[in-house]
Amino acid sequence: MKVKEAATIISQECLCEGVYSMWLATAAARDAQAGQFVSVYPNRDSRLLPRPISICEIGKDSIRLVYRTVGEGTREFSRMNAGDELEILGPNGNGLLPAVREEIRPGTKALLIGGGIGIPPMLELARELNCDKSIVCGYRTGKEMFLTEELEAEGEFYISTDDGSAGVRGTVMDAIEAAGIRADVIFACGPRPMLRGVKELSLAQSIPAYVSMEERMACGVGACLGCVCSSEDIDDHSKVKNKRVCADGPVFAVSEVVL
Ligand SMILES: Cc1cc2nc3c(=O)[nH]c(=O)nc-3n(C[C@H](O)[C@H](O)[C@H](O)COP(=O)(O)OP(=O)(O)OC[C@H]3O[C@@H](n4cnc5c(N)ncnc54)[C@H](O)[C@@H]3O)c2cc1C
Ligand code: FES
Repeated sequence: MKVKEAATIISQECLCEGVYSMWLATAAARDAQAGQFVSVYPNRDSRLLPRPISICEIGKDSIRLVYRTVGEGTREFSRMNAGDELEILGPNGNGLLPAVREEIRPGTKALLIGGGIGIPPMLELARELNCDKSIVCGYRTGKEMFLTEELEAEGEFYISTDDGSAGVRGTVMDAIEAAGIRADVIFACGPRPMLRGVKELSLAQSIPAYVSMEERMACGVGACLGCVCSSEDIDDHSKVKNKRVCADGPVFAVSEVVL
């Protein structure tokens, strides 16, 4: 069940420049799943809209968020400390596993792809998936890497960096090609060009793929249409070729969305 509450910060640490990890004590943990997100409300009245942040890990009564500071909202979160309260609403969205849970067996080969700040939801997904896993993460540089140890413990782990300072120089798709990774199902979260590459791979090799979209959001609860992405089919809600990322997603079968 979705809750809106003042969650208490259990801990906050900087993982690398501009990237923070925050554990929150919250009842939202009880029904949370990999790939869902919480709407986090800045405290200043001048910033009313919540910021959507993916759930990176789920504890018994706590969740972990890993986020990059990009604007005023996330900068405000980064200045908070253990014991402070942060208003959140969640868990929101559909998650990465519901559509495929039945089809995943111990021998299934899953390919998890995260790009930049799309990497955090891959950690909880890797923990929930009981099958063979290849995990490929794309970072800007070797100095800006995060969650590498945790992800390495969950499966075959590969890295790409834009500047070649760690792993394969180039994109996650270059790393996948270089390692000759084959998969039965793909899960991905990251920037739009990366998701386009995932769609091409999915179509070329006839592999089902599920992508988590990170559109800009406003209300975060399906009311304002501020987060729509283009879909291949007409949407039941808006009667046009649109999907609301916050309410219909953020996870879509790659065949459903125009990337
Ligand atoms: C489903 C989903 C999951 C996300 N998960 C993460 C995560 O795990 N870690 C992380 O670092 N970032 C994540 N993001 C991106 C994050 O929401 C934005 O970086 C954040 O909202 C920026 O807020 P700001 O106030 O710092 O920046 P500002 O630019 O000041 O934000 C102004 C407004 O734009 C919206 N906005 C700005 N950038 C984005 C964006 N990329 N996506 C959505 N809304 C945006 C904000 O919600 C706010 O309303 C996610 C986005 C979505 C949609
Ligand atoms: S953010 Fe308002 S409908 Fe999605």
